[in-house]
Amino acid sequence: MKEYQFKEGFLWGGACSAVQCEGRSPEDGKQDNIWDQWYREDPGAFYQGVGPEVTSDFYHNYEQLIKMMRECGITSFRTSLQWARIISDRDGAVNRKGIGFYHRVIDALLDNGIEPILCLNHFDMPMYWMEKGGFECRETVDAFAAFARVCYGEFSGKVRRWVTFNEPVITPEQGYLYLHHYPLVQDGRRAAQVAYYIQLASSMAVEAYRQMGCSGQIGIVLNLTPTYCRDPEDERDRQAAYAADLFFNRSFLDPSVKGEYPADLVRILEENQAVPVHTEQELETIRRNTVDYLGVNYYHPRRVVHRSRPLESDTFMPDRYFEYYTPENCRMNKSRGWEIYEKGLYDIGINIRDHYGNIPWMVTENGMGVQDEEQFLNEEGMVEDSYRVEFIKDHLRRLHKAIEEGCNCFGYHMWCPFDSWSWSNAYKNRYGFIRIDINDHARPSFKRSAAWFRRVSDGNRFTD
Ligand code: NOJ
Repeated sequence: MKEYQFKEGFLWGGACSAVQCEGRSPEDGKQDNIWDQWYREDPGAFYQGVGPEVTSDFYHNYEQLIKMMRECGITSFRTSLQWARIISDRDGAVNRKGIGFYHRVIDALLDNGIEPILCLNHFDMPMYWMEKGGFECRETVDAFAAFARVCYGEFSGKVRRWVTFNEPVITPEQGYLYLHHYPLVQDGRRAAQVAYYIQLASSMAVEAYRQMGCSGQIGIVLNLTPTYCRDPEDERDRQAAYAADLFFNRSFLDPSVKGEYPADLVRILEENQAVPVHTEQELETIRRNTVDYLGVNYYHPRRVVHRSRPLESDTFMPDRYFEYYTPENCRMNKSRGWEIYEKGLYDIGINIRDHYGNIPWMVTENGMGVQDEEQFLNEEGMVEDSYRVEFIKDHLRRLHKAIEEGCNCFGYHMWCPFDSWSWSNAYKNRYGFIRIDINDHARPSFKRSAAWFRRVSDGNRFTD
């Protein structure tokens, strides 16, 4: 029997986001964001027509859910602050009721011995800024920095760990390339502009944090997808993996941690007339304001091969440089269509150790979304989710090995302690230790994995 011991103070917890758990709750002055708008335009785009106004009703039920999280051994919890709940309009009017809600949530977390980690943006954009172009518009960047200042002013006395953006690459990738997120645009040049302005917004939020003399730490959460090519002996395949890594990992990793964009990414953008509008002063802001720590969301690797035929597309697409493939016999999470490859987490750690100054980092998301979990309900009404325990253990073993080899990882968060709404997939895949029946929000119940996680968190270790 092998024992995996983690260092004292290692954070055990979970993450969620405002839009995915709160519910719209328009009664307290929250303004519409892009999810409310998209749902209004096209409810059929969401699994079973379930939209953002429903979610897990955390807005009303946060006390119960926080107590239950504590019982699962969650000692730290990341959620996001919803911009459209806190700021009411383009002039920056502050909604005191929105602020009051987040104070209550933070206090409830602290009362239960759970460290709050706050993220300033998790895929949400108020409609009053989207109408101006969202992150294609320079004014939105300044407005984001102003929003960050309001949040630090209110909450930094109670909250010591902050995150600027969650998975910033997702907005350009899914919103401006692959048509999975609002505004459902396909245009590589616009995607590049959005990516650049999000990075600038993140760096300006870091700058504001330091200018205001906040004493905690500020980081960014990236969904790193270690990229492997089919044939490492084939130079064309190696180049394909190199390009995909530049677009989807290093486009935010390098400027956030090193303050610089990779020269080869800039060259590719130049070759495709896709260099975003920028100024030297902005690049200097990015250079000066690197993060204190990194959050890593890890679910699956990226597998690529060189492109066999030129991509037919009217616009510049990163896929011009590679194609995806699925290795034969790989382990899959069939519900999600994602490959399960736990070694990817180890590879991420080693890459950060060797190429990013061994910056402190934590796993900010990892987890197992499963469809139709109802089929695993036992007679006591508990979901028997041993597959979730296996998934987490597999990843923790690799993480432990990376730490033994010198990686500076200080925590592990699973997604998401309770079942939550997943964007267009709504409640299709369940991730939680706590089961939520969306027809009966008032009665969340534990799954089997909750007891296992509690033991890991209490003992700071697990055994095989
Ligand atoms: C990453 C995102 O941060 C979160 O919003 C999403 O629901 C989970 N992954 C699960 O797919």
